[in-house]
Amino acid sequence: MSHPEKPAPKAVYVKSYGCQMNVYDSQRMADVMGAEGYREVATPEEADLILLNTCHIRERAAEKVYSELGRMRIIKEEARVAGRKVMVGVAGCVAQAEGEEIVRRAKVVDLVVGPQSYHRLPDLVARAGVRPGVVDTEFPVEDKFKALPAASEARTRSRGLTAFVTVQEGCDKFCTFCVVPYTRGAEVSRPVSEVLAEVEKLAAAGVREVTLLGQNVNAYHGAGEDGSEWTLARLLRRLAEVPGVARLRYTTSHPREMTDDLVEAHGDLAALMPYLHLPVQSGSSAVLKRMNRKHTRDDYFRLVDRIRRARPDIALSSDFIVGFPGETDADFEDTLDLVRQVGFAAAYSFAYSARPGTPGADMDGHIEEPLKTQRLHALQALITAQQHAFQESLVGRTVDVLFEKIGRKPGQVVGRSPYLSPVQVIGPSSMIGSIVPVRITGAKTNSLDGVLAADDHMRAVHAAE
Ligand code: SAH
Ligand code: SF4
Ligand code: F3S
Repeated sequence: MSHPEKPAPKAVYVKSYGCQMNVYDSQRMADVMGAEGYREVATPEEADLILLNTCHIRERAAEKVYSELGRMRIIKEEARVAGRKVMVGVAGCVAQAEGEEIVRRAKVVDLVVGPQSYHRLPDLVARAGVRPGVVDTEFPVEDKFKALPAASEARTRSRGLTAFVTVQEGCDKFCTFCVVPYTRGAEVSRPVSEVLAEVEKLAAAGVREVTLLGQNVNAYHGAGEDGSEWTLARLLRRLAEVPGVARLRYTTSHPREMTDDLVEAHGDLAALMPYLHLPVQSGSSAVLKRMNRKHTRDDYFRLVDRIRRARPDIALSSDFIVGFPGETDADFEDTLDLVRQVGFAAAYSFAYSARPGTPGADMDGHIEEPLKTQRLHALQALITAQQHAFQESLVGRTVDVLFEKIGRKPGQVVGRSPYLSPVQVIGPSSMIGSIVPVRITGAKTNSLDGVLAADDHMRAVHAAE
């Protein structure tokens, strides 16, 4: 007797652009479709459902989506010829910002889903299967996090030793260059109990390092179990008590929300890594004012002092925008000067990109592209030099490394320093999952070489014999 053939399980491919929030959301989209029987695949060619989780932060990021959709059109067509139906969805911040426009501009798109609607994905996919061109960019009243299924233990386990957890979403700051308040909506914090449950589950599955995410993560004000509002510092202190969690990080923070209790936590919470991304955007108070950052250059210097007093070995990174409307040579010099005075371990810098609908786009004094590029190169040269200097400063020091995987060379194991840089040593693979002291012996641009401090000790013992 012949059995009717079981339909092959469907496959979903999710590609992330932009920030870590999107990376986290992409995993949740894969989870929500996983609950519908979709397995996650690594290439669009294998998929029945292709989701592009997009970024709208700069013009180039947003435009990239359309060239990518061109590629998806070919994949979809090839599948159709082979008798297979493939669906293409656009998610993320371009979806939120452009909505219907995407379906009009790119016929290949079957559905458009904004960041607040991912829990409705199965329903949207079903509807788009009947009639392509479904758009959902509403900001629903229900909490998307509550509505999303929890990741299964097996999926969590396969994700390794480090994990992101979104604790806050959206932004009320309205910096005049930025689309995020429009694409992600108002600031919302997840309740403490939800965050705690997720972190406990990750820790039980072997995760040792958790990075708390939010567009404005230090503005966190989630409801605690005791009914009071918790700050990020209080949340971090609680999460540090979760068995297995050895390292905590958070990103991205706003300088204005670095409260005393958070600065204090950097001083006395061992699990909180001494590395902080603290975007300043410009070193000119005049530009900062037009950017609506609500902090001055001196406020930033004072803040850096406070943080370094609490945690002298902290390394800082930042974001910069050059060529904001009205930026003079003197303003730009102020930015270079701020970088020289602070000294960053790393930094990202961008040429200002006018975003439709933001106040910056309508300001006077737009800077021509060649000048922006020139300033960007000057700033990047300075930042690169500081980055090298920081890496070099670690040579000879012993740092704790969380080992994550086997390296490319035989016998090599790779982990991360407290400052996020990859560290390579020769050692047993049994170290994977552990935090082990390593003496740094050499610095490259993006990684460090080291020897196990224990091996050093053994050598010293042998030498003394
Ligand atoms: N929430 C974060 C920023 C998210 S966007 C924060 O408050 O810092 C990441 C970075 O992109 C920003 O820090 C900024 O440097 C850059 N950026 C944002 N809008 C931009 C624009 N219109 N043009 C160029 N760079 C921009
Ligand atoms: Fe954008 Fe400013 Fe909000 Fe950061 S704080 S997300 S730069 S509006
Ligand atoms: Fe981009 Fe949206 Fe993140 S615009 S940076 S994906 S919040």
